Amino acid sequence: MSDIIKIKDEYLKKLNENLDLISINQIKSELFGKNGKVSNEFKKMGSIPAEDRKKFAYDLNLVKEELQNVIEKKLKEIETHQINLKLQNEKVDVTLPERNFNRGKIHPVSQVIDEISSIFSEIGFSVEEGPDVENEYNNFTALNTPDNHPARDMHDTFYLDKKKEFLLRTHTSPVQVRTMLGGKPPFKIIAPGRTYRSDSDQTHAPMFHQVEGLHIDKNINMSHLKGCLNYFIKEFFEVDKIKMRFRPSHFPFTEPSAEVDIGYELKDGKIIIGDGDKWLEILGCGMVHPNVLKNVNVDPSKYQGYAFGIGIDRLAMLKYGINDLRAFFETDYRWLNHFGFDPLDVPSNYRGLSR
Ligand code: PHE
Repeated sequence: MSDIIKIKDEYLKKLNENLDLISINQIKSELFGKNGKVSNEFKKMGSIPAEDRKKFAYDLNLVKEELQNVIEKKLKEIETHQINLKLQNEKVDVTLPERNFNRGKIHPVSQVIDEISSIFSEIGFSVEEGPDVENEYNNFTALNTPDNHPARDMHDTFYLDKKKEFLLRTHTSPVQVRTMLGGKPPFKIIAPGRTYRSDSDQTHAPMFHQVEGLHIDKNINMSHLKGCLNYFIKEFFEVDKIKMRFRPSHFPFTEPSAEVDIGYELKDGKIIIGDGDKWLEILGCGMVHPNVLKNVNVDPSKYQGYAFGIGIDRLAMLKYGINDLRAFFETDYRWLNHFGFDPLDVPSNYRGLSR
């Protein structure tokens, strides 16, 4: 048997075994590499007598082709096998039903805070924030409410230590103090946030929300306060006309002070804001007391202005027809699904500012 046929038989037998990629490549180079067995046969060509050369070349080429074909076929098989394995492991069943998901809702209070911030930012107010845990100075003393002032009792304060140095802020007014201590006039800010008083019934919760407003500049007077609040209420309730009443009141940190009521009527058990002969109190306000300005290093002979504090929960209840304040804080998912807002649900007067 010629060498060529021996090589062929030997390697066809080898290739018939169950081989992996490495062994096949090994065989490939054993045969066709630089010193491969088939390659070496080709080198013999010159020494073959001329009359046999044609047949030798013919046979050799046939063997070369056959072995190459088997090798290529084997390599293809392995490749296909590997692709199938991969496909099997990464199989995606597109016929499966989609997974359930719940989209969260925006709490009415968060929604209303966004709306309020948006309305005030339209007329030049920036948004400030302060901590829920305050010191007694920022919450009371700096706001012209010294020790044993009756207003301190009125607020039913949650104190955090025996010495009564730290407390949960009873209103957002300490943000006035923080803002003015931290900068130079003019100031034109609102400060929405949580506030706390030891109080609980259908219209009072121990934690509630306020938005503070403060505008200090040269020549700011009470008519600016009225104009600003009037604008805000109309924008917020989306009405053209609003009946407002300023009732004389008292806050240690404003002089004069007022509480503001808005007019409403009841129609089919529903509150209609803007007209009517009933009054609803929604905020406290006044001209910032000179003592407060002195406490925060602002010269009251040069600068003055107004401040206000609005109850946010009350506004949210009125605008969105929610009867019981306590529902806001009960974290009832069904309630939130009903009264909450979709993230992209924007009321007509919402202008895109978000916290
Ligand atoms: N801080 C007052 C309160 O909580 C509201 C208020 C703010 C009044 C600013 C006047 C000026 O009742």
